[in-house]
Amino acid sequence: MSVALTHGIRYELGGLEFLLDNVRATQGMSAISPLHVDALVLRGARPADIRKLRDVHRNLRDGRDLNVWRRTLFRLRGDRLVVIAEEDEVVAGFNMFYFRADERAQGVVHEAFSGVVETHRGHGIATAMRRYAAACFASQGVNSISSQVRADNPASLRSALNAGFEVVDHKALGCEPETGLLVLRMDLRQAK
Ligand SMILES: CC(C)(COP(=O)(O)OP(=O)(O)OC[C@H]1O[C@@H](n2cnc3c(N)ncnc32)[C@H](O)[C@@H]1OP(=O)(O)O)[C@@H](O)C(=O)NCCC(=O)NCCS
Repeated sequence: MSVALTHGIRYELGGLEFLLDNVRATQGMSAISPLHVDALVLRGARPADIRKLRDVHRNLRDGRDLNVWRRTLFRLRGDRLVVIAEEDEVVAGFNMFYFRADERAQGVVHEAFSGVVETHRGHGIATAMRRYAAACFASQGVNSISSQVRADNPASLRSALNAGFEVVDHKALGCEPETGLLVLRMDLRQAK
């Protein structure tokens, strides 16, 4: 068997394991209820949102698509793992999460991505999504949220800090400290 094929099989098996783990981890959780904040509605994702989420994700991440395992997870459990911000029935942004195998036993959920479409930036939408996600996870018994933000992404970092994350570690990416990856954590235990 070629190295590429072995690698491909391992990748897909890892994806399947990720999906099954996350379906199990979210089994008893309630769906995120809609929250109205002025003209904005924050709500859990529905299967019909996945196509739009993929479009926004591709636009904000240099054309990168959500892989099939994440798409499947968010189709099945987006109501518990993805906060969507909608204004006039248009998706303005989304904040998505999953449980990582190495963190799940400690009751930690991972923030995988936060994105707001360009026309809606600078109005506190990312911060509102992060705060609402934190409140929802706290009410479901989750202990904390982990995340990672690049040090050269001040809008994301500021929004994360405003929402209640703290920097717990700094991982250098290459040798430029200003482009390093900051490891963030938000403790939810006081909020329970
Ligand atoms: C990061 C992102 C989600 C922020 O969305 P947003 O809705 O505009 O964020 P918010 O308005 O809630 O908060 C942004 C904060 O950063 C500040 N900010 C924005 N640009 C900044 C800059 N260049 N330098 C310093 N602060 C900046 C804003 O003033 C605001 O802080 P404040 O509320 O204290 O004034 C959005 O810019 C985005 O989608 N970027 C592309 C995708 C991305 O990088 N996602 C994060 C990957 S983890």
